[in-house]
Amino acid sequence: MGQQAIEIKPLSGAVGAEIYGVDLARDLDNSEMATVRQAFFDHGVVFFMDQNLTPDQHLTFARRFGGIDVNKFFEQVDGHPEIAQVRKEPKDTNNIGGGWHTDHSYDAAPAMGSMLLARELPKTGGDTMFASMYAAYDALSSGMKEMLSGLKAVHSGARAFGPKAHENNADRDAQFKLSEIALAEVEHPVICTHADTGRKFLYVNGGFTMRFANMTEAESAPLLQYLLQHAARPEFTCRFQWRPGAMAFWDNLCTQHLAINDYHGQRRLMHRITIQGRAPSA
Ligand code: SIN
Repeated sequence: MGQQAIEIKPLSGAVGAEIYGVDLARDLDNSEMATVRQAFFDHGVVFFMDQNLTPDQHLTFARRFGGIDVNKFFEQVDGHPEIAQVRKEPKDTNNIGGGWHTDHSYDAAPAMGSMLLARELPKTGGDTMFASMYAAYDALSSGMKEMLSGLKAVHSGARAFGPKAHENNADRDAQFKLSEIALAEVEHPVICTHADTGRKFLYVNGGFTMRFANMTEAESAPLLQYLLQHAARPEFTCRFQWRPGAMAFWDNLCTQHLAINDYHGQRRLMHRITIQGRAPSA
């Protein structure tokens, strides 16, 4: 049977595109892979519809982009330790990823990308927003770009996964393994250059960036807060409405994302695979 032509439909001016005409359950040929890879780098996040993949098919597709970077804090899918559950139960008030962040920026070599597959969706709500950190960088003034170019920031999982994150949230202790690991700190440049696209992007996020290197949190806060607000400007974003079988694949360096928590009393279950990356450099 002949293959369908691949169609790429951008979702907004800055970030995100839907890809039609690929069946990820099949082993994509080199030309299809090249098209998907190019769309991923061009748009920062790509969305595939109607992909009812088994966990093994999900893993097989992910491995075409690199090794699997197993998340240290999330509950795993039974029988598939490389796949994390991103789950909110009807009794939960908090969701995973409810603030703007990039996955794994607390690691020395953060994940290059994440593949999130919808398994169970609420009747309404539960959309995910994405923001382009290329657009955020491009929109800064030349003076701000120059000032930020020599700065590094400290990232850690402490806020999201450390003991304090669980103080008022006892029912989530089972889902997150508390660990000293969450308190470890790493430094990354505030302005990074993408190794695959050569484009510069802003690399601070509200989930995991604690402060600028060699500064206190109080000293860092005014500029850091400004940058975090700037990064979420509506014109840098897109919003994806999930449907059964949809899968998002985002670039964890040049995008941020936020899972909208507007479906209390309903269940939402996603399977996420994160793919190994390299330390970002200036
Ligand atoms: C995440 O932050 O990785 C999860 C996003 C989502 O559940 O939409």
